[in-house]
Amino acid sequence: MRAKRTRPIAMILPRACFAVACLAASVGAAAPRARLDMRVFERRDSAPRNFVAVGAASSDHPLSLRIGLVQSNFAGLEKELYDVSTPGNSKYGQHLSKEEVEAFVAPSPDTVKAVKTWLESHGLTSAPASPAGDWLSVNATVQQANDLLNADFTHFEHVDTGKQTVRTLSYSLPDALHGAVQFVHPTTASTVSRNTKVSVLDEPTGSPNNDTGIPSSCASSITPQCLQAMYSIPKTCGTQSSTQLGVTGYVGQYANEQDLAMFLQKYRPDLSSSTNFSVQSINGGENPQGSSDAGTEADLDIQYTVGVAAGVPAVFISVGNDVDEVDGFMDSTNLLLAQENPPSVVTTSYGYGENDFPYSLGSALCNTYAQLGARGVSMLFASGDEGVCGDQGTSCSNFGATFPSSCPYVTAIGATTGVPETGDFISGGGFSSWFPRPSYQSTAVVAFLSSLGSTYAGKYNASGRGFPDLAAAGENIAIVYQGQTMSTGGTSASSPIVASIVALLNDELISAGKAPLGFLNPFIYAHPEAFNDMTSGYNPGCFTMGFTAREGWDPVTGLGTPNYTKLKAAAGL
Ligand SMILES: *[C@@H]1O[C@H](CO)[C@@H](O)[C@H](O)[C@H]1NC(C)=O
Ligand SMILES: *[C@@H]1O[C@H](CO)[C@@H](O)[C@H](O)[C@H]1NC(C)=O
Ligand SMILES: *[C@@H]1O[C@H](CO)[C@@H](O)[C@H](O)[C@H]1NC(C)=O
Ligand SMILES: *[C@@H]1O[C@H](CO)[C@@H](O)[C@H](O)[C@H]1NC(C)=O
Ligand SMILES: *[C@@H]1O[C@H](CO)[C@@H](O)[C@H](O)[C@H]1NC(C)=O
Repeated sequence: MRAKRTRPIAMILPRACFAVACLAASVGAAAPRARLDMRVFERRDSAPRNFVAVGAASSDHPLSLRIGLVQSNFAGLEKELYDVSTPGNSKYGQHLSKEEVEAFVAPSPDTVKAVKTWLESHGLTSAPASPAGDWLSVNATVQQANDLLNADFTHFEHVDTGKQTVRTLSYSLPDALHGAVQFVHPTTASTVSRNTKVSVLDEPTGSPNNDTGIPSSCASSITPQCLQAMYSIPKTCGTQSSTQLGVTGYVGQYANEQDLAMFLQKYRPDLSSSTNFSVQSINGGENPQGSSDAGTEADLDIQYTVGVAAGVPAVFISVGNDVDEVDGFMDSTNLLLAQENPPSVVTTSYGYGENDFPYSLGSALCNTYAQLGARGVSMLFASGDEGVCGDQGTSCSNFGATFPSSCPYVTAIGATTGVPETGDFISGGGFSSWFPRPSYQSTAVVAFLSSLGSTYAGKYNASGRGFPDLAAAGENIAIVYQGQTMSTGGTSASSPIVASIVALLNDELISAGKAPLGFLNPFIYAHPEAFNDMTSGYNPGCFTMGFTAREGWDPVTGLGTPNYTKLKAAAGL
């Protein structure tokens, strides 16, 4: 993610009438039937940030709805997740199978029956939309959906892009189903695409290494060779073909093979010239290879995985651009959950603000990351590029959190700048308003909070999950884009870099007959000594200087940047 983009201040719709009674009144005499048992399930007070309402959606406009059903035993899954991910636990490393995970999250037969009966009473059919059957998909017209959900689906237009989306500000469910349904999407959630900003790079001068072992050119341009020196990453290649490194791609971002080949030739001449990546696609996700099809984000992500985690097979997960972006997040997770052997590490450089989502949808997505963690997959996400603003734009009054970084079951990666490194001003960090502080953070985060004292009291949620967890280089990152050497950055770069380090560690663990690291956080918080602690830098926003990096964990750089040698020792290698 990249911060340096401008956005107008959110435009707020005139406050409309939201209560069920008002909606019924607005339908007037045409109200189809008494809805005494309907109760509001979710609503928002105004249009999503940066969207304006431009008119009612036509009654025959098609909607592809997802309905999340309440899972039978998520608490049981969460306990297993922590058992298999916490060093010292007798189950450490004993990751669950696909079937074991699904048994925890499948909804009860009663739940499925109640929801299907309700849909059928409206003439609607459903199909499973997740491997465990905890999500259903339903095709409906706007008229059917308005009727089913007491909703008012409207066209909203994004003020920057003009992109239109159909959403409702409120929806209701029968009272009896409030305990059976977790969310209905698309309803009140709305999101916008990210962009990565690139600038043409002046060729770094190949100055010799000085006594830090870090080439002096790294001060102005970060390459894989710099990262090897900064984080003690081995130059040798991984050997295990059974473990893959996954890189997600959304919003029409494609990774270009020719750009990768040029990048490797330039910066990893030690690797075979046929080094490449494979592609899995979903929702019609493509893999076009024309030079102008290359996306900066996708090129960055693939170059800093293939070019850093040498020898680890990389798979680019291309998510079709025609679906709603939240659907893209859901479907890429379902693609991984449906695999018997998903990649052992997945990095994602896309994200949203907690404010752009309803909690119901965020918590449902967060739960899918717990499922992947229990399966032994490390899920890494860029922490965002707007410092403490958390993707709200800079004119915020309170700090915000980015999602999925705020999910306690993922590892959120912030950014550093320079050599020696300091916290980068863009580095997304802070505290979730949704998810409480997980126990693995109790020592580290409480120490930070007590050093902070009353500074910023009321601007952030001190009881929330703190993020990021770790950091890595995020400024002046050299890439090849559309055949040219460029410089880019953001936490978008930091996340693939850390993912590559985890992938190389997993490769060594598997060679040694051990389990991959899986969900990282209990392990990394138990081993703060394995990271270079950043003690300077800050992440301004919302008219403040933001948080300041300090000794120990902080919401700018987390526990710090990785040291591969020390991580290897911590992992028992
Ligand atoms: C919804 O429509 C799509 C496209 O026509 C179709 O492939 C899918 O099977 C339908 N889903 C359901 C649940 O009817
Ligand atoms: C070595 O190079 C790094 C990166 O440019 C620089 O920060 C550091 O000060 C240099 N150290 C010495 C001893 O010259
Ligand atoms: C990483 O840790 C090892 C072992 O303590 C140390 O020798 C090395 O200098 C560290 N690497 C960096 C880049 O600090
Ligand atoms: C990468 O692999 C694909 C097939 O997986 C192949 O078609 C393509 O030519 C390769 N690209 C390069 C640059 O080697
Ligand atoms: C703070 O976070 C907790 C969960 O961590 C949540 O229950 C509470 O509502 C949040 N408070 C605010 C003001 O956001």
